[in-house]
Amino acid sequence: MFLRDFELSRITPEHLKVSQPVPWSIYDEFGKLLMAKGSILRSDRQKEILTRVGLFANEIEPDPESLLPQPIKFHRKVNPFAEFDELCLKLEEVFKLIESETPNGSVIKKRVYDIATHIQGLVSYDSDALLGAVHLADQFPYHVHHPMQIAVLTELILERLQVEQVVRLSVLAAALTGNLAMNPYQQRLHQQKTPLNDQQREVINRHPLQSMQKLEAAGVDDALWLELVAQHHEKLDGTGYPRNLVGDAIRREARILALADVYTAMVTHRPYRNPIKHKDSLRDIFTQRGSKFDSKLTLVFLNELGVYPPGVYVRLNNGELAVVIGRTPNPRSPLVASIKKTDGEFFLSPRRRNTENEQFAIRSACNVSERIKVNPATLWGIQAIRVNSVNTADLSSIADLI
Ligand SMILES: [Fe+2]
Repeated sequence: MFLRDFELSRITPEHLKVSQPVPWSIYDEFGKLLMAKGSILRSDRQKEILTRVGLFANEIEPDPESLLPQPIKFHRKVNPFAEFDELCLKLEEVFKLIESETPNGSVIKKRVYDIATHIQGLVSYDSDALLGAVHLADQFPYHVHHPMQIAVLTELILERLQVEQVVRLSVLAAALTGNLAMNPYQQRLHQQKTPLNDQQREVINRHPLQSMQKLEAAGVDDALWLELVAQHHEKLDGTGYPRNLVGDAIRREARILALADVYTAMVTHRPYRNPIKHKDSLRDIFTQRGSKFDSKLTLVFLNELGVYPPGVYVRLNNGELAVVIGRTPNPRSPLVASIKKTDGEFFLSPRRRNTENEQFAIRSACNVSERIKVNPATLWGIQAIRVNSVNTADLSSIADLI
């Protein structure tokens, strides 16, 4: 216990009773101990002296928020893409723990919160690079990659809304584990080229409740985390599942998860369909605001992503192929890294382009066929040139742009 954890207060006569133990240790104004807690007060004279010079240390209740796991702070340069991959591996380990014969709830909770606070730290360290990882990273199976994508987007919104840490941890934990019950089926479903059959539909409809039950059975006792897992596919108009909840019956945090989940599912490549262009996905979500998605949260979500979020491929006015690497205050003019020249040749190393400049302005978002796999760390100039974080965009007018 440190001195800052105490508040010194002056003794008053009502505090002390002769022949009784003193309720706290008593100090003089210089911090010298006059009487230890529990010592018996012997006389009125002693009481009078203590009342005149004594101070007692009133232990301050620790702030519950300060006891919570806090976002990790990076004091050295890190590669956010490598960190993202590392967290995917850690999440895979957590899934194994939950499925183990003797899962330990507190260990699972700690590991999931660790991943959550790491994501928080990375989002605050370089949110553009993390958005890049959401759109570009593809080396992990869908059942690991998808929850990580949801968690990153969710943290961006939670941060924008300044949600308190105690809630944030539960929401991120739900983002990371909400599809748990789908894990055994996910790879097959992800690769399937035919429409879902009735049995598969049933598995999907049940997964929010089943994921919640699995977590409960593994010893997770965070009630908000569990409830959000159960609610993450509910839609405002009651067309969601599994309980067809309507409006206010759906928690705000579950509505955030739904937005992040739907967007990332749409922009992810599936064997049976190409990823939907991010712009079409954003437009889709925008048009369903107020019916399926919470209107205010939808705008916050779209504002955070911008018209061209980091990680998407774009064609510039001069014909160059580029990848967005940073948001700017102008939602139409992000910072990009060009990878292919006008004549179709590759640049030896990516060229930063300011899309506010007419010749480098974005002509269009690219089709999937135009995308070329590039190491994101190279695009972001990590290790060679550190990307200083671009000011978070204030894109209040974004609704007009998509
Ligand atoms: Fe889900």
